[in-house]
Amino acid sequence: MATDFTEETAADAVVDSFAKTQDPRLRELLSSLVRHLHAFVIQTEPTIAEWERAIEFLTATGQKCDDERQEFILLSDVLGISMLVETINNRVSGPGGLGERSSQKATATESTVLGPFHVVKSPRRELGESIDFVGTGTPCVVRGRVLSADGTPLPGAELDIWQANDQGFYDVQQPEVQPRANGRGLFTADADGAFWFRTIVPSHYPIPTDGPVGTLLNATGRHAYRPAHIHFIVTAPGHRALTTHIFVAGSPYIESDAVFAVKKSLIKEFTPVDDPEQAARYGLTGSFCLADFDIILQPTAEN
Ligand code: BEZ
Ligand code: FE
Repeated sequence: MATDFTEETAADAVVDSFAKTQDPRLRELLSSLVRHLHAFVIQTEPTIAEWERAIEFLTATGQKCDDERQEFILLSDVLGISMLVETINNRVSGPGGLGERSSQKATATESTVLGPFHVVKSPRRELGESIDFVGTGTPCVVRGRVLSADGTPLPGAELDIWQANDQGFYDVQQPEVQPRANGRGLFTADADGAFWFRTIVPSHYPIPTDGPVGTLLNATGRHAYRPAHIHFIVTAPGHRALTTHIFVAGSPYIESDAVFAVKKSLIKEFTPVDDPEQAARYGLTGSFCLADFDIILQPTAEN
């Protein structure tokens, strides 16, 4: 006999309706989602008008998406979900081993969000080349080594790098102002796993606010800024790919990134250097900033 829909039985009724789901993981995900959503509704008791506003917001979020703009990812970013998924999927090996929740810090470099500006694989460049083709901003050298968790260098590791300029814009946001692929480079580490490249110190910048995510930030009194950073995707055979950034120490918003992506281990000093000999070593003439970033990759399980 059919049972009446009540506040008490609602979640069970929907979860039971998934009983024939073939894929057990899909069933688990849907059941848990429904239980959490029902609990949220029971706890907050939205009015009909509030629920309609929520639907309107999600509709506008979808409508803002196109080939270049992904407002749902941006929403996931500002709600901290992107970072949570990223962090869970990149747990590093502590005493409990890879994949277990552990407060123990292990050796691998920490990951952070990909973001929406990795639009193309960056153009290949030689070690030491500049990725800046505009020439404004503070010149800077980023250098380091790519190593395996046991300290073995990883020669031939690939580093895909992209960043905003000194005004806080990516090349794709300023097609009339910046040359294509400005601020982007794909480098191969040398026989010691070492890499180095020239660039300019990037600026902090706001995430896009002309859509529903901007409305949400506004309504909650939140700013839209990300602290200055340089993005990296680092790959090497037999190792887990690493998506991360380095953050410029002392940048505005380092304590309040709009997408919650800062991890202390990724904040790096961009140290001013006023030494013609060092400058010449990197093909520079005046003073510049130097940032060191050693990258440790986790071997894959099969390794
Ligand atoms: C970025 O760093 O490129 C980014 C990350 C998340 C949201 C918006 C931008
Ligand atoms: Fe970015």
